[in-house]
Order: sequence, then C-alpha cells, then structure tokens
Amino acid sequence: MEYQKKYEEYLRRTEDRLTLLCDRYLPETSLTARAARYSLFGGGKRVRAILVQAACEMLGGDPEPAADFSAAVEMLHCYSLIHDDLPCMDNDDYRRGRLSCHKAFDEATALLAGDALLTEALEAAANAPFSPQVQAQAVRLLAGGAGLSGMILGQELDLKYEAQSATEAQLLQVHRHKTGALIEAALQMGAAAAGATEEDKAALKTYGYGLGLVFQIVDDVLDVTATQEELGKPIGSDAQQGKTTFVTLYGVQGAMEYARKVNDQACAALQGYGERAEFLLTMAQKLIERKK
Ligand code: IPE
Ligand code: IPE
Ligand code: MG
Ligand code: MG
Ligand code: MG
Repeated sequence: MEYQKKYEEYLRRTEDRLTLLCDRYLPETSLTARAARYSLFGGGKRVRAILVQAACEMLGGDPEPAADFSAAVEMLHCYSLIHDDLPCMDNDDYRRGRLSCHKAFDEATALLAGDALLTEALEAAANAPFSPQVQAQAVRLLAGGAGLSGMILGQELDLKYEAQSATEAQLLQVHRHKTGALIEAALQMGAAAAGATEEDKAALKTYGYGLGLVFQIVDDVLDVTATQEELGKPIGSDAQQGKTTFVTLYGVQGAMEYARKVNDQACAALQGYGERAEFLLTMAQKLIERKK
C-alpha cells in the first residue's frame, strides 16, 4: 500500500462527502449557513476524517459509507475551531490562512455557525448509511468526545490554566480532553463502521490517546516554531494568552522528545495488526513531523 495514494483517496472522499452533506444539512439559505460553510471549506488537514476511514479499513470495513462519519467529525471539529478563535476564548483573527469566522462575519454569526455545525454533525452521524445500532453508536461517540467529558471539559481547563500554571499531570488532562477526545472518537467511529471487536476498540483507544496527545504537543510546538504563513493561524497565541503548554514546561526540544516517546507507545498498540496497521503507523509518524 502506498501511503500517499491512500491518503489522497481518503481526503478526496472526505471533501466530496462534506460537499454532499453540506448541501443537505447546511443549505445556503441563511447567513449562519454561509458562515459555517466559509469555515468548513476554508482548508483544514482533515486529520480526523482520515482517521475514521483508516481505522475502518484497518479493521476490514468499507471506508465509503464511513465517510459520512468523516464528514460529521470534521463539521464538529470545525465548530470547535470557530468557537476557540472567539475573543472570549483564544481571540485569534486568522484560521486556515484567512480571517477567522467572527472576523469574516461577526461574533454572533460565528457563534451560531459553530452551533449549526455541532448540531448538524450529530444529525449527519445519525443518518449515515448504517444500521440503527451503528448510527446510535456513532452519535454517542461523537457527542461523548465533544461534550463535557471530552473536548468541552478540555477547553474549560485550557482557559483555567491561563490564569494559573499547570503541572504536567494537569496539562495531560487538558490535552487529552480538548484534543485527544475527538481524535479518539474519530477512530472509534471508524471502528463502529467496521463492526469492531472489544479488542480492536481497546487497541485503537491506546493508539488514539497517544496520537491525540502528540497532536496537541506538536500544535503547541508549532505555535512557537512555525510562521503564520505556514500554519494559517497566528503564532505566539499560547504565550499571548499565558497558557501553560508542553513548551513552557519542557522547551521545544523537551516537548518533542516527550512527543516521540508517547508516539512510540501509541504505535506499539497496533503491532498485532501487522501490515494492515501500516497506514495508521505512517500517519502517526507524519503527524509528529508535520510543519502545519
Ligand atoms: C487544530 O486542529 C486544533 C487542535 C486541536 C490542535 P487541526 O490542526 O487539525 O486543524 P485543521 O483542521 O487542520 O485546520
Ligand atoms: C484547540 O487547541 C483545541 C480545540 C478544541 C479547538 P488550540 O487553541 O491550541 O488550537 P489552535 O492552535 O487555536 O488551532
Ligand atoms: Mg484554544
Ligand atoms: Mg486556539
Ligand atoms: Mg494551538
């Protein structure tokens, strides 16, 4: 299997499905829908969407119908970014190489666009072409990853540790929730689409935990080492908000060493899958080396 070819196949399928589902769930009849679509189609690496399909295929499932879950998780992720950029959160004016939603539109519209993406993501997952059991599983996973035991708690804690510094254990909790939870949900949605066993789910949980953590550590590093042109979003945002990150705790080198260790542990969880795990293992490597 050639990684790049597969990656492009997953990506193309994601973009096609997003276009299709947005015509259904976010028809351009309102300002809110226009703002949601502005943010949703303004770039984005689609990491979570690709994870859905890759996990599904690793477990012998068909990635074609699972792409509805890919689109749903990207809609939900996009909502989190729109709200994350608001002045009351990280106060960032650029996202994905252009103005943030609240700058291109206004704050109230950005708030509603986020709300719409969140709500329609759940509807899209509920209506995906699967049995009612798998549909319900997917909605539960998506809501669980996004909600108060997942991303929202992480975002709350992230803000809390602007005003006070965090220990490593506290920062692990922040990253695990604000970023890891949705990444794990994406993998488990792919697993649900493939009719995974408990053993499969456990392996993906360990992999997802590590991957999510590494993803946020690298995001924190890039906030210091990249340029705005490369990232498409402001750099120095974390320092400006006074956030504790792995970089403030251990420096850039230390943070990357930490990430590499976590990455090795994450990848070990997929050892039993042999060649079938090749894509997810390569993807983990690419994500730790990413420059944007
Ligand atoms: C940014 O996520 C927010 C984090 C959780 C670190 P991505 O880096 O996946 O952002 P896009 O979707 O590619 O813009
Ligand atoms: C993002 O963390 C977490 C979300 C749930 C959106 P960041 O605040 O570091 O993400 P960026 O750097 O703005 O993309
Ligand atoms: Mg933030
Ligand atoms: Mg932010
Ligand atoms: Mg960041």
